[in-house]
Amino acid sequence: MAKNKLKKYSEIKTFANTFSEPGAFKGKWHELYFRNNNGITLELACGWGEYTVSLARKYPNRNFIGVDIKGARLWRGAKTALEEHLNNVAFLRIPIETIENVFEKNEVEEIWIPFPDPFSKKSKKNRRLTSGKFIEVYRNILTNTGLIHFKTDDPNFFQFTLDVLKQEKCAIHTVIENLHNNNVEDDEIMLKTTYEKKHLSAGKKIHYLCFSLTGEALRGKTTPGTLSPIE
Ligand SMILES: C[S@@+](CC[C@H](N)C(=O)[O-])C[C@H]1O[C@@H](n2cnc3c(N)ncnc32)[C@H](O)[C@@H]1O
Repeated sequence: MAKNKLKKYSEIKTFANTFSEPGAFKGKWHELYFRNNNGITLELACGWGEYTVSLARKYPNRNFIGVDIKGARLWRGAKTALEEHLNNVAFLRIPIETIENVFEKNEVEEIWIPFPDPFSKKSKKNRRLTSGKFIEVYRNILTNTGLIHFKTDDPNFFQFTLDVLKQEKCAIHTVIENLHNNNVEDDEIMLKTTYEKKHLSAGKKIHYLCFSLTGEALRGKTTPGTLSPIE
């Protein structure tokens, strides 16, 4: 293994904002870690944690938690958060499959899922982070009105997700087929992650979806004015 990666693995273990066994925080993130009652946003498959760090800078009165299994990637976001004294940030180095062991029902208010692996083989479709299996997991941690934002470069994964959301009777608020060719003025949606930059350089289209798990009223985030929500 590359020396640099090993160094990051050992360094990340000393970071006060990064956890690989976070079960003790379940239901107690506000009390034990953030020490405030502000809403929690998750970034799943966060990689280097661009959403977590950028949103934490922009919204000091909200809390942000990035989740990924790859420590050498998380290291970047966690280090930046420590250097900038962003006390509203945590990172979890865990499989997303175990997230219900870490958050109580309704403990999470919003989820971003930027460029999760598409797991293109049909035999692996349950590993996709927008499969029915994961939608059930999100139902157990996210508030009823909480929004989920999903980005992908993969048209098949995008269509798969739309089909799952219809099957699961989720409320789809925004569908954008080609994000960077649509005059979207929302800074958050337009924020480019590491993979997004790679896909754009390769000439790929970026697809974006915003949905909630029930049909309840949209709260907390305005969808871009240029796009109409679909039923
Ligand atoms: C294609 S990368 C995208 C990284 C980042 N979101 C970006 O846009 O640059 C997908 C990330 O998801 C993580 N990942 C995929 N499945 C996961 C799982 N079940 N649990 C934890 N991390 C997972 C991988 O480790 C990887 O860092």
